[in-house]
Amino acid sequence: MYQKQFNNPNTKSTERVQTSATVGFKNGAIQIIIWITTIFFFTIPTLSETLFHISYVFGCDPYFRFNDLSYQWIALDNWTYTTTFTVPSQIRVRKKVLLVFDGVDTAASISLNGIVVGKTDNMFRRYDFSVRKLLKDGENVLEVSLLSPVFYSSERRKAHSSYSVPPECPPDVQKGECHVNFIRKEQSSFSWDWGPSFPTMGIWKDVRLDAFDVLHLIQLSSLPLYSISTQWRLQVELLVDAVQTTSCQVELSLSELDSKQTIQNLFLQGRLKYNFTLHINKVDSFKIEAYLTSFLQVYFRTVELIQEPVMESPGLSFYFRINEKSLFLKGSNWIPADSFQDRVNSAVNLLQSAVDANMNALRVWGGGVYEQDLFYNLCDELGIMVWQDFMFACAMYPTEDDFIQTVREEVIQQVQRLKSHPSIIVWSGNNENEAALATNWFNIPASQKPTYIKDYVKLYVNNIRKIVQEDQSRPFLVSSPTNGAESEQEGWVAANPYDPHFGDVHFYNYNMDCWDWRTFPRTRFASEYGFQSWPSFSTLEPVSIPEDWSYNSNFTSHRQHHESGNQQMLQQAALHFNLPNSTVPLKRFTDTLYITQVMQAQCVKTQTEFYRRSRSEIIAGKGHTLGALYWQLNDIWQAPSWSSIEFGGKWKMLHYFAQDFFASVLPVGFEDDDTLFIYAISDLNHDLKLRAVVNVYSWSDLDSICTLTSDQLLVSGGSAAAIFKQPVTSLLAGCGGCTRLTCLLSFHLENNHGIQQGPTNHHFLCSPKDAQGLQRPNITEDKSGFMVILHSDSVAPFVWLDVGHIQGRFSVNGFLIVSRNKTVHFDAWQPTSVAELSRSLSVTTLMDVY
Ligand SMILES: *[C@@H]1O[C@H](CO)[C@@H](O)[C@H](O)[C@H]1NC(C)=O
Ligand SMILES: *[C@@H]1O[C@H](CO)[C@@H](O)[C@H](O)[C@H]1NC(C)=O
Ligand SMILES: *[C@@H]1O[C@H](CO)[C@@H](O)[C@H](O)[C@H]1NC(C)=O
Ligand SMILES: *[C@@H]1O[C@H](CO)[C@@H](O)[C@H](O)[C@H]1NC(C)=O
Ligand SMILES: *[C@@H]1O[C@H](CO)[C@@H](O)[C@H](O)[C@H]1NC(C)=O
Ligand SMILES: *[C@@H]1O[C@H](CO)[C@@H](O)[C@H](O)[C@H]1NC(C)=O
Repeated sequence: MYQKQFNNPNTKSTERVQTSATVGFKNGAIQIIIWITTIFFFTIPTLSETLFHISYVFGCDPYFRFNDLSYQWIALDNWTYTTTFTVPSQIRVRKKVLLVFDGVDTAASISLNGIVVGKTDNMFRRYDFSVRKLLKDGENVLEVSLLSPVFYSSERRKAHSSYSVPPECPPDVQKGECHVNFIRKEQSSFSWDWGPSFPTMGIWKDVRLDAFDVLHLIQLSSLPLYSISTQWRLQVELLVDAVQTTSCQVELSLSELDSKQTIQNLFLQGRLKYNFTLHINKVDSFKIEAYLTSFLQVYFRTVELIQEPVMESPGLSFYFRINEKSLFLKGSNWIPADSFQDRVNSAVNLLQSAVDANMNALRVWGGGVYEQDLFYNLCDELGIMVWQDFMFACAMYPTEDDFIQTVREEVIQQVQRLKSHPSIIVWSGNNENEAALATNWFNIPASQKPTYIKDYVKLYVNNIRKIVQEDQSRPFLVSSPTNGAESEQEGWVAANPYDPHFGDVHFYNYNMDCWDWRTFPRTRFASEYGFQSWPSFSTLEPVSIPEDWSYNSNFTSHRQHHESGNQQMLQQAALHFNLPNSTVPLKRFTDTLYITQVMQAQCVKTQTEFYRRSRSEIIAGKGHTLGALYWQLNDIWQAPSWSSIEFGGKWKMLHYFAQDFFASVLPVGFEDDDTLFIYAISDLNHDLKLRAVVNVYSWSDLDSICTLTSDQLLVSGGSAAAIFKQPVTSLLAGCGGCTRLTCLLSFHLENNHGIQQGPTNHHFLCSPKDAQGLQRPNITEDKSGFMVILHSDSVAPFVWLDVGHIQGRFSVNGFLIVSRNKTVHFDAWQPTSVAELSRSLSVTTLMDVY
């Protein structure tokens, strides 16, 4: 048992005479004013610290080298937080005083002045305790005694003796703790295949006293609902806590719509819902505009998940219609941005990076946390649509009464908190648990399967779904991946939740050749797929020492939490590239980091382009793909993973590629039976007249050998169509002496005025390792301000600019050079200078690593 004594708190009280909140949209806001008596609140600031700060006292970064192992003991022990505070008299004279914890991580007993006021068992819940009678003059002592989460989970596992609830423990390679499914806590905090085991303990959100005489507004939320018959209705929900049955007046006004309603109402203890009806024509006028002019604030929007028969295809469609428009969801998956939630301050940068890469959607994955309010506010503002999982992942879960009860409260509170955010377009019950049951990840004997299916249905369908369905403004899916309506038909666990004819699909295969699109499932919606890579050297350097800097070091294998991951990356890279073989160890290491990023970027590009070009067609009964969310956007620490952004915010090559492969207008090239196809893809709302322009280059020459142009094609908004088609042999034959090994293709789309639409793309006719004539380019740089002009004397693939530790990003990176000059801008995220940038800049091309 450890005791931690805090300094005296800063006593502070604030007075509010009215509670108001805005649920606004574009030009106006709804103002809700409740005329009630004064509310006082009082913050207890020093309690808002978490356990990991202890490691900072010793000056050690918990992510340094093997510190996840060195600090393992911390979470095996129990810890007590203690603070003392005095309470202003105007607080204590109120009729009701609540001690409110917005978040406790996780199992704790809380006592005030020596009396236990309550216990907590769920990191995702807010807790409040009535404490008026316990407060006294002078010093009050508050104690939060936290039980080791590892100990707690294992005790809960022992108490559940009738049958096992797998998995018991994570794979050894993750170096994690066991039975995380028995505690309502961030599931990845006991380790994951991309993250360390740091089972944090502490008080991760605010703690305060709320004091009031009559009633207190806990939460205000609103849901706009639309139906043809009733048009728009705004459902406003007030969650109040009343000392006694009280009569009071509520005024709701919608400023821009010139609408005001006053109601006399009788507040009872508990929740009150009030439906506020809007006038239809004015809302209607910006219902579509607001969304499509993009991605500013939108508070009125409709979401439909369309699952209906598809022509020439068995199964059902699966796509989202927002404001009556079918959208292709482009984006990635979000994981916790740090093992220590209270030091996360990167959400703005990460979400802006998502938007800068032309993403319109993110899935908040079910093994992390329900993100903070700021995250969803930013998504609302930036126009990022959120697929929100509930926090259950890759496991079976117990269903004892107390577990179900705490989950129910968690779901009620989170839905209440989050449902006003228009960015959230779908709720989803869990990550991969339907698939885990259906395809028997945990070797459950067939005779016992019904028990687990019963538990599954009890938790996600009978409890979570039932609560969430009160929200009629967006769909609910039980799992991801799932067959959706078909899974429901099959009793909520489909025989094959990965069926490409239904719902969403997660797909990973590291052994196949990722340049071959035939190996990808032509699914309706790809919600997870990806390949690993290493972060750059500047990200690894602060948490390592020179002896770690080789691909075979203990550090390198320690940081890899996915079985055989380091070998898989090299195997995949070796299919198309020579592996780095420098005799200088450090160069060989950094070259290897680079080649893993090249491999990842190229793999995810190929797969994403395959999904995007599959949006309008059905081939062999499969297709109409309307979603591509690769795994994963961000990292939790400095380690190899599937992310496109490194811990700290640096963009990997993949993230730069995403800017292009998610562009709203995009040409995609691929071969089928030795025929080259180019598809024109448009996510725009209007039609375009386009032609494709193909330039054939020799690997050894910067002047294009020949140029081919397609006929003009009308490409409708929201479609993908073949615009160019020619057998590769005839294409090369017509292009003076070119072969697959000596030439490559670059192509773009133009409108009827000859103006390029969308990015330039390229297609390799052989692996770069087999290319003939590819030379080591002589690249020189002209720098002017935060701009670099590269001059090259030959074709150079995967040109990579790096400025080490200077935070920021380039306008483009990892690009193919097929011109003598290339201009690249640097957007600095910290103060820097031209001199510092020049000193730090390095340029790597594929030929530099052999
Ligand atoms: C933590 O507290 C529990 C319950 O009091 C106790 O059983 C356990 O032994 C304690 N663990 C340690 C390491 O003191
Ligand atoms: C509010 O609207 C919802 C959804 O239409 C309905 O179920 C509920 O009964 C309404 N409540 C009130 C108080 O009108
Ligand atoms: C790697 O770890 C092993 C086992 O802990 C140890 O024996 C070996 O000396 C370490 N190697 C290096 C280079 O640190
Ligand atoms: C690279 O190009 C620069 C500028 O054209 C030239 O001065 C230099 O000699 C070249 N280096 C090599 C190795 O060819
Ligand atoms: C490329 O840059 C060089 C040196 O700045 C300049 O002389 C030349 O005109 C540029 N070429 C093109 C095609 O822009
Ligand atoms: C490294 O690999 C390249 C390409 O395979 C080869 O040409 C070169 O000789 C190799 N260098 C060494 C030092 O092995």
